[in-house]
Amino acid sequence: MPLLEDLPPLAGRRVLVRADLNVPLRTGSGGQREVADDFRIRAAVPTLRWLVDQGATVTVCSHLGRPKGVPDPATDLQPVRARLAELVPEVRLLDNLRWDPGEEAGDEAFVRRLVDGQDAYVNDAFGASHRAHASIVGPPRLLPAAAGRLLAKEVQVLGGLLAAPARPFVAVVGGAKVADKLGVLRSLLQVVDRLVVGGGMAFTFLAAKGIGVGASLVDPARLEECRVLLEEAGDRLVVPEDVVCLSPEGTLADGGPGSGRTMVASAVPEGWRGLDIGPATAARFAACLAEARTVFWNGPMGVFEDERFAAGTRAVAEAVAACPGHSVVGGGDSAAALDRLGLQDRVGFVSTGGGASLELLEHGDLPGLAALRQASNAPARR
Ligand code: 3PG
Ligand code: MG
Repeated sequence: MPLLEDLPPLAGRRVLVRADLNVPLRTGSGGQREVADDFRIRAAVPTLRWLVDQGATVTVCSHLGRPKGVPDPATDLQPVRARLAELVPEVRLLDNLRWDPGEEAGDEAFVRRLVDGQDAYVNDAFGASHRAHASIVGPPRLLPAAAGRLLAKEVQVLGGLLAAPARPFVAVVGGAKVADKLGVLRSLLQVVDRLVVGGGMAFTFLAAKGIGVGASLVDPARLEECRVLLEEAGDRLVVPEDVVCLSPEGTLADGGPGSGRTMVASAVPEGWRGLDIGPATAARFAACLAEARTVFWNGPMGVFEDERFAAGTRAVAEAVAACPGHSVVGGGDSAAALDRLGLQDRVGFVSTGGGASLELLEHGDLPGLAALRQASNAPARR
């Protein structure tokens, strides 16, 4: 992959930087939209700083949310632009790329408009590099191109997990949708010593084992695949042995308080919903992590936004932080959970990409990385 040093001299040149500034926003006290978590914005700074210091004129572009090809005030990048200006005032940020249908369609005319007047392109948008969108795969066909500092670091760290992990290597995967994660679970089982599964997705595994799941989230179309994985992996695949359940009439806290009764059970009663791993499971997961020399964690263990179902995610976050080995956390909700618990500084590396980190671990490559390797200035092609 070409790096910043593989670009032609940049003094007085114009550089287009694709960053992933898709950050969570919130409504401030005055009713204005503001950045709720600037992790991805701060992560983009080293590359922007380097380019500015080289004397380049830098234009940054990003998507925000999923606006479906039309301008929409709810996905205006203005709050992000304001925060970015506090960190690096010398750069300009274009409007939300996804306001144009050409971005997600990978449209060639849109690519040409983006690169118009630019002399070089830098992809530092690790979190969006699993998308074969115009701004990710198009510019390297037309301009000298390079991976930014963040993208290069992400690939080095996540790729290192697959290449030569210190053992035992334990992966903890959670989150709601089992269908989205079966591919990465299969790939992880090729390299890890232990794969620990929690979160909503665990209930399809429990159902596949014939354990009562009540009204918990289950994907009936994936039961057979889960059953086969459990059989093939044997005791390398660890699933919950107890869960925290919510009574049938109960509701989840959503800003306000939730309602209903909770209990810990090894099988979920009829009509109840399992919404977090139980204390015995949390202890077992923590014990797996305590002996690991390499850890990868992606996805919450329960509905942690509701305090009644936050203990499992907190226990895993603390165990990941306490693990003396090399720890890597895949972005999104797990990074947010670490941040809320004040544990971000205690893990080895927090990826800025959720989906992207999983796809890189699953396939060993991403469309955005492949595009950079094809650039005319890539080391192997010169
Ligand atoms: C993310 O936040 O996962 C990335 O920015 C990619 O966004 P997307 O899932 O909407 O493509
Ligand atoms: Mg995503």
